[in-house]
Amino acid sequence: MSRVTLSRYLIEQTRCNHTPADLRFLIEVVARACKEISHQVSKGALGGVLGSMGTENVQGEVQKKLDVISNEILLEANEWGGHLAGMASEEMDNAYQIPGKYPKGAYLLVFDPLDGSSNIDVNVSVGTIFSVLRCPDRNGDEGDLGEEAFLQPGTEQVAAGYAIYGPQTMLMLTLGDGVKGFTLDRELGSFVLTHDNIKVPESTKEFAINMSNQRHWEAPVQRYVSELLAGETGPLGKNYNMRWVAAMVADVHRILTRGGVFMYPRDSREPEKPGKLRLMYEANPMSMIIEQAGGVATDGNQRILDIQPTSLHQRVAVFLGSKEEVLRISAYHRE
Ligand code: AHG
Ligand code: MN
Ligand code: MN
Repeated sequence: MSRVTLSRYLIEQTRCNHTPADLRFLIEVVARACKEISHQVSKGALGGVLGSMGTENVQGEVQKKLDVISNEILLEANEWGGHLAGMASEEMDNAYQIPGKYPKGAYLLVFDPLDGSSNIDVNVSVGTIFSVLRCPDRNGDEGDLGEEAFLQPGTEQVAAGYAIYGPQTMLMLTLGDGVKGFTLDRELGSFVLTHDNIKVPESTKEFAINMSNQRHWEAPVQRYVSELLAGETGPLGKNYNMRWVAAMVADVHRILTRGGVFMYPRDSREPEKPGKLRLMYEANPMSMIIEQAGGVATDGNQRILDIQPTSLHQRVAVFLGSKEEVLRISAYHRE
């Protein structure tokens, strides 16, 4: 049986005029960086990569050594190839400028270098999430690229994906034409297409939320989760099971595989911050993937991909996954 590697898949996409050559190169470079991150993550204590840096990122979160290592791997891999106009990351306060000695390209790359950092030291799945946008026309402006260039709604993404570093390393990718899953063949060092045409089941009996925040949630979420917990004798008439990995990549990966609903609602602890997850490099790429797989992604009131961002590190409430449940959550927000 002939194997379709990521390279072959991308070349065939270019051949049928779906994927420009520079976008294909970009995805290959990101995939290569993910392989290197996967390798670093897998070393664990032997590589001295566990533990904290003792520094904080722009969100005020403690940076793990692997957050910083992963960020550097992605920057170094992507800065020289001439396919990018700039990058932005969870781990950097401002937009990253492509060094002047390298050519610049048409795209912007935004990423969460290592999602689920709190899982690293306990050997549970983590991942890398990325989003690709076109750089707006700068009318010959050669100066530093500002944050504004990145502030485009998720509908403008030309590609999105994530790598998950679990029992297997996988790359899940959408170029706006469905979702493909590639598994890393560690002996050959290449990603091989193993999951063609991924679809999120429309209904589910599985939900994911951090229940410890319950007392801070808004009324529609309180109602919905209490109905889930009421099981078959409640209004939803079926028993639900709960899973919470505390790494969005792992929770979303489960939902892509067997359905489910993922929730990180806004809550009353920090009213000025709508939720915990970040729009540009967590919610938008994941929402594009989920929609491309037939699921739904909203912030309760609107489609996540339609939100006009106002800042690079903006937060957003997230409800995504199986259509039936996410539509129910939206309906409860409207009532
Ligand atoms: P990151 O490690 O990139 O900061 O992201 C962690 C996020 C997300 O992956 C996960 O769903 C959520 O935080 C977990 O939050 P809790 O700590 O509230 O469980
Ligand atoms: Mn994250
Ligand atoms: Mn992260």
